[in-house]
Amino acid sequence: MTETRVRQQYDKMSSVYDKRWKSYISKTLSFVKNWAQISPLDTVLDVACGTGEFERLLLSEYPTQHIVGVDISEKMLEIAKHKCSIYPQVWFQTASVLALPFASNTFDVVISASSFHYFDDPLAALREMKRVLKPEGKVVILDWCKDYFFWKISDIVLKLFDPAYKQCYTQDEFHHFLAATNFTIRRATRVRFDIVWGLMVATATPQY
Ligand SMILES: C[S@@+](CC[C@H](N)C(=O)[O-])C[C@H]1O[C@@H](n2cnc3c(N)ncnc32)[C@H](O)[C@@H]1O
Repeated sequence: MTETRVRQQYDKMSSVYDKRWKSYISKTLSFVKNWAQISPLDTVLDVACGTGEFERLLLSEYPTQHIVGVDISEKMLEIAKHKCSIYPQVWFQTASVLALPFASNTFDVVISASSFHYFDDPLAALREMKRVLKPEGKVVILDWCKDYFFWKISDIVLKLFDPAYKQCYTQDEFHHFLAATNFTIRRATRVRFDIVWGLMVATATPQY
């Protein structure tokens, strides 16, 4: 149900998304790219890739990187496809995090930025990310963090007025989700961009 609303919202917003969120996108994705320590030989899945800005950033450094981006908004993906059309080893697919159209043990890195708060079932989302990750791979997730006052208030307001919004989490809750889905957290922190944007990031590896 939420997925349908999210899709409609992002389909509608797609043409202005990059411009409206330019500063936020540039800061958060540069941060996550540095944090993730992706090797140019890694095969990367970007879950909820939006307009492909993370792909553009990574490819500007490693033009031969193998990357797949998935998102539920076809309009966001159209922009991503256009941006990355010169890279034959990069492709985009419409898919939900809850049903990733890939074989198990496919990716070295699964990344997801500013999207975890949309996922209907965070545990099922993490299980699905883990399924497509190679046993020696890693997941890197960046999202809004409810430990910050701004998000405590925004969480209440968005739940009241934004039908596409699900909820954001505290760092403790987020870490519990990772532990409950058999991930080991390797690195994690909270980070603030400007005065407003308080986020959290974690790199985790699957336990078998
Ligand atoms: C705030 S944008 C972030 C886009 C990109 N990761 C970035 O950092 O610029 C959130 C994106 O999550 C996507 N999304 C939300 N729920 C999703 C789901 N269940 N499966 C896949 N994508 C989803 C939306 O369509 C949207 O493109």
